[in-house]
Amino acid sequence: MTGPGDPWAHAGLPRESVRDDRGDLVLTHTPTTREGRPWADLAWRMPQVDAARCADVLRSTLRGWVLSTEDEALATELIARGARVLRHAHGYSHDLRADPAPSSWSAPEGPAGLRLTGVERTAEELARLLLAAYPPGHPDCFGWTPAEARQEVAGILAGKVLGPLLPCSGLALDGDKVVGVCLVILRDGTPPHGGPWVIEVYRHPAPRYAGAGAALLRRALWLATQAELPALSLVVSDGNPARRVYERLGFRHVGASRTLELPT
Ligand SMILES: CC(C)(COP(=O)(O)OP(=O)(O)OC[C@H]1O[C@@H](n2cnc3c(N)ncnc32)[C@H](O)[C@@H]1OP(=O)(O)O)[C@@H](O)C(=O)NCCC(=O)NCCS
Repeated sequence: MTGPGDPWAHAGLPRESVRDDRGDLVLTHTPTTREGRPWADLAWRMPQVDAARCADVLRSTLRGWVLSTEDEALATELIARGARVLRHAHGYSHDLRADPAPSSWSAPEGPAGLRLTGVERTAEELARLLLAAYPPGHPDCFGWTPAEARQEVAGILAGKVLGPLLPCSGLALDGDKVVGVCLVILRDGTPPHGGPWVIEVYRHPAPRYAGAGAALLRRALWLATQAELPALSLVVSDGNPARRVYERLGFRHVGASRTLELPT
């Protein structure tokens, strides 16, 4: 059920409504789960409903949920009512129909000596590199333990996190060692908020591997263009310098959102 004007009404995603105690529609969202928790994604407030009133309704109807929204006013009111900010993120999308990858990206240049391949390694190896790429203090560090990182990567490889893994995913290898990872999945819905999605891209932090991430993204964009995918999209946390890499590769900013944990 969607409300009139819901920007995600035609994105091919389920929409659920939240109503106040009079039965009036105050908000729509895409219900999903992440790490076992209920998550109201792409939450959209009915324009005639005041942000403070909407926040009051959500405090009782979505108690303990995670909620993501591009609505700054609603986020501010929820934070004033005790919601905790989990993430301030920016959405980016590369439209492959309007801006297909050039053929030079079929064999993208990267740091000397690296070989780019498909994903042919274990979750264990990819998870070890993930922990090195996101040290504590990094804006996209979730503070995972080695076991949690392994579980997350194994889930992505098995297609259990938001959607199946796509063949434009890849690795950068230095000899036998994995030094870069780019994992692309197919999310529900259509771009820029769904569809082909870069769920992870990271490289070994040693300066000699600078450029490995961009090389993997060029490869993914080329393979995605060849596979006639409409776009590659992603989200990146505010303050992560990776944004500049995405912008240089032709990804366009499509919105900012906050992910909040509502009080129980
Ligand atoms: C994102 C990433 C894969 C891009 O890889 P890359 O193409 O090899 O690009 P680099 O890492 O060399 O550089 C990206 C930018 O970040 C900056 N940067 C890299 N490491 C940095 C650090 N530790 N502190 C501050 N800035 C840093 C670089 O100076 C560069 O900025 P510039 O574009 O203005 O020159 C890589 O930076 C990475 O693994 N980051 C950690 C994981 C991450 O944030 N992934 C993206 C999640 S959305």
